Amino acid sequence: MIIQERIKELMELRNQARLGGGEKRIDSQHKKGKLTARERIDLLLDEGSFEEFDMFVSHRCIDFGLEKQTYLSDGVVTGYGTIDGRLVYVFSQDFTVFGGSLSEMFAEKICKVMDKAMKVGAPIIGINDSGGARIQEGVKSLGGYANIFERNILASGVIPQISAIFGPCAGGAVYSPALTDFTLMVKDTSYMFVTGPKVVKTVTGETVTDEQLGGAFVHSSKSGVSHFVADDEREGILLIRKLLSYLPQNNMEEPPLAPCDDPIDRLEDTLNEIIPDSPAKPYNMKDVIHAIADYHEFFEIMENYAPNMIIGYARFNGMPVGIVANQPNYLAGVLDINSSRKAARFVRFCDAFNIPILTLVDVPGFLPGTAQEYGGIILHGAKLLFAFGEATVPKVTVILRKAYGGAYDVMSSKHLRGDINYAWPTAEIAVMGPKGAIEILHNKELSTITDEKERVEFLKQKEEEYKNKFASPYVAAKFGYIDDVIEPRNTRFRVIRALQSLSTKKDVNPPKKHSNIPL
Ligand code: HXC
Repeated sequence: MIIQERIKELMELRNQARLGGGEKRIDSQHKKGKLTARERIDLLLDEGSFEEFDMFVSHRCIDFGLEKQTYLSDGVVTGYGTIDGRLVYVFSQDFTVFGGSLSEMFAEKICKVMDKAMKVGAPIIGINDSGGARIQEGVKSLGGYANIFERNILASGVIPQISAIFGPCAGGAVYSPALTDFTLMVKDTSYMFVTGPKVVKTVTGETVTDEQLGGAFVHSSKSGVSHFVADDEREGILLIRKLLSYLPQNNMEEPPLAPCDDPIDRLEDTLNEIIPDSPAKPYNMKDVIHAIADYHEFFEIMENYAPNMIIGYARFNGMPVGIVANQPNYLAGVLDINSSRKAARFVRFCDAFNIPILTLVDVPGFLPGTAQEYGGIILHGAKLLFAFGEATVPKVTVILRKAYGGAYDVMSSKHLRGDINYAWPTAEIAVMGPKGAIEILHNKELSTITDEKERVEFLKQKEEEYKNKFASPYVAAKFGYIDDVIEPRNTRFRVIRALQSLSTKKDVNPPKKHSNIPL
């Protein structure tokens, strides 16, 4: 029967496509500790949920003998499926076919799933493992990249876009991940750079390895390009699945509620003791986050980059919430260039996707010095200020200890449309810390005191006066800048009540084409 022959042919073609660049190259991929494009998709999506598109696509190039070298799927596997029952679109680059390099048709396949994801309002996940533009296709491949970039840009703020880097990612290929919302790398097997070590050597004379130039460690701790680092691809895929559990499908939806039987009024006595008596002594803000979140769970983002600022997701009575918190345990939680950039982008993501923001404040101010000024802390700090001020999602703030100077304003203060702002009784809200303030206010008197003992006594007395006057939450509370002073152990309850009261919040910004955030 003809139909049976046709079905047999279909099965053969499918098998051929599934083999990508062939057994030998698949073996070599496995030997490097990497999975194949299809194995990655199988792990990422719910079992049996993957529906593939364009399996029979092949390239159109007839230069460099490529007409004799065609592979079904042309080096990228695309389609849709589900993660925890929710629709996602995916593309997964196949390194076994021309090193996963991007051809005209390869790009068209990616654009097709991106367009579909946009039409139906579902996240898109790209798994990157590629030698960049397919050299034999020249400008067609460059055009293909730009077609993807344009879609990344238009999809930004509409659907969540996630990039996994599971191999090399070189040249212009790095810019699509950079345009997406979250990038994940894997230790030892993935790297990203605009120009590789050989070009670096030729142009600058510098000798570097792939790892030193653009490995997972570099991008997660130095450049801030990568949001997550996984020990291996399996862990990376689990991280992506977990991340999506906090996100809505698109900007018109609310983030998904999870069932919660962690009591909302759970008291955490440890929080009444967590602030050390000495203001110079640190504590770990993550202990506070874990104490107040549902089931003590916190999903941290960019853990190793600018650790003086903590960002990530937690749930409160089942509701996903973005947390922005100063970390007194690292550089006293000071605001600097990197921490400002890190938090600003996160705040904007949360705002674009209707995720409420909880801000936990313990910040001594902005980091002074030439390194910061020359690096543009004015602009970078302004990014965070802008992001908080522009955000219209529910914003709840708790000041735990220090909120000094400009940093008080920046960290989701009432003045930047913070909705509900609480302080612990240990909060100190002032223009600056007591030491600095006394040196400035009593400069003249201090210069006349020659006896060291007398000087110390004078400073102590003045600092005490200053602290009594300013370093408490009650001056701010007197002006309504703080809605209430709350008992630390009751923070979970008060935050949940605040978020519940804001669940129907509506706020808008004036009509405009777009803002002009200080980039
Ligand atoms: C065509 C490519 C290719 C490419 C790799 N291959 N990169 N084919 N175009 N860009 C092929 C190889 O010929 C080889 O084919 C197979 O893929 C595997 O490559 P290997 O080099 O053997 O693998 P490995 O040693 O693991 O090295 C991987 C690599 C290296 C680091 C990615 O191949 C490499 O440096 N490639 C070039 C990277 C690059 O400079 N790309 C262009 C960037 S410019 P066989 O048949 O032997 O298996 C760019 C511009 C975009 O992307 C601009 C957009 C704005």
